[in-house]
Amino acid sequence: MRIILLGAPGAGKGTVAKLLTAYDGSVQISTGDILRGAVKAGSELGKKAKGYMERGELVPDSLIMEIMEARLQEPDCAKGFILDGFPRTIPQAEDLEKLLAKLKLKLDLVANLEVPRDVILDRLTTRRTCSNQDCQEIYNIKSKPPSPDGKCLKCGSPAIQRADETVEAITVRLETYNQKTAPLIGFYGKVGILKNVSSLSSEQSVKEITGAIKK
Ligand code: AP5
Repeated sequence: MRIILLGAPGAGKGTVAKLLTAYDGSVQISTGDILRGAVKAGSELGKKAKGYMERGELVPDSLIMEIMEARLQEPDCAKGFILDGFPRTIPQAEDLEKLLAKLKLKLDLVANLEVPRDVILDRLTTRRTCSNQDCQEIYNIKSKPPSPDGKCLKCGSPAIQRADETVEAITVRLETYNQKTAPLIGFYGKVGILKNVSSLSSEQSVKEITGAIKK
């Protein structure tokens, strides 16, 4: 499958994307994970992205498109891809259209994960993420806790809070989403491949998305 997962911070994009990879081997591509990896590695990309991310602002479109142009041409994308957190602005969506046309690829679906704001705030303050860059399993101290001593159940690394999980950064991320990313719902609605999906149950979201793709 070739799909985009849209949704506010904490809507469950990463959780649903990980479940969807089991469906047909499509690869999850999370620009957030790629950027956090670059920050951790201290690469040039990471140095440029760090400040924006910690403040809860978007990284410049040009940096993101550079990453995605290369990533979508890697061999593991041949089976399909689940875009998690990209595109995030209208210019990114327009550039993605050009890139896909160049690669002769078509999107199957854009799933817009919908969750009430109070649920989002609760999820973001209770999330924990595996600190191992190759694992990055997502936990939640209420709905899916790590081990009692705070370790990842898959690889044993510490499950930690992200640097952008302060109240200030969460507030900026939600405002940025409303201003810059929510307009993509209209953009893909016009293209005719948008499906709104309630994201209160990740398993149900996966069923609705795979059901829509089969049709
Ligand atoms: P990114 O990593 O993409 O963060 P985000 O969009 O803010 O999304 P999150 O990862 O916070 O949430 P999610 O929707 O994946 O939810 P999750 O599944 O974890 O981006 C981070 C930063 O990188 C950006 O702020 C920006 O600076 C930069 N960036 C990234 N992409 C960019 C781009 N394209 N352009 C420019 N800048 C970019 O779930 C959240 C919690 O809820 C978890 O604890 C989970 O366990 C729990 N949960 C999920 N589903 C359920 C459920 N059904 N029931 C109960 N709990 C649930």
